[in-house]
Amino acid sequence: MIIRKSAAEIDRIARAGTLVAETISHVGERIEPGITTLELDRIADGFIRASGGVPTSQGYKGYPRAICISTNDVVVHGIPDGTVVEDGDLVTIDVGVTLGSAIADSAYTFAVGSVDPESQRLLDVCQDALAAGIAEARLGNRIGDISHAVQTVVEGAGFSVVKSLVGHGVGRHYHEDPHVPNFGDPGRGPRLSEGMTIAIEPMITMGGPEVWLAEDGWTISTTDGSRAAHFEHTVAILPDAPRILTPRVGIATERARLLQ
Ligand code: MF3
Ligand code: CO
Repeated sequence: MIIRKSAAEIDRIARAGTLVAETISHVGERIEPGITTLELDRIADGFIRASGGVPTSQGYKGYPRAICISTNDVVVHGIPDGTVVEDGDLVTIDVGVTLGSAIADSAYTFAVGSVDPESQRLLDVCQDALAAGIAEARLGNRIGDISHAVQTVVEGAGFSVVKSLVGHGVGRHYHEDPHVPNFGDPGRGPRLSEGMTIAIEPMITMGGPEVWLAEDGWTISTTDGSRAAHFEHTVAILPDAPRILTPRVGIATERARLLQ
């Protein structure tokens, strides 16, 4: 069942979304060679709670940390631990925040120091794909229009979309209907209607689309060991234009066209 939200509820999700964006920026400022992902997680946890929020991931289906941190070939749901960040790494910070009863979800892949040109292109393409998906998040369109737009950008650039992981409705719960795949046909799937709030989140790889789940039950990595990127926004469907409820701030500010 798709839960459509009132204007007031969307404003509450946007407040959670602001805290999500601030957390991503705050953590991003601390990413440098030598820091561990667990240290970054503790920074995120303290920041979110000091701001009156609760990290939604903590305890979600038994997830043990405040946020997800996925490096290099890890696509999503990396569990912060003693992993040391190194120059040239890709580090995805994926944050859910519950503020009052509202939940927002966003992710951003940071390049640490100097990354190789192909890794930088992976990040650029993933952001372009997210922007293309958001541009299709218009009243009267269908989920498939978003999915197709994302897939077209990613595959047109010679990269792969992970098909076994999807975006999702969000706002009252962490994961609501509908699924928002990163591949598909235009004109298919649920119709977008006013008040829907969805997380659009291309998860893409430099190599093939296959992934595997580690024994920890969470960490999902590329099967071929290629690098991955993941950018995500929570977006509300409104009459005039999609509203990004997790707009970037600070270090994570994106290229301007994403906000158009
Ligand atoms: N933020 C993730 C998403 O985009 C959800 C992580 S679930 C967790 O859907 F339990 F691993 F945190
Ligand atoms: Co999500």
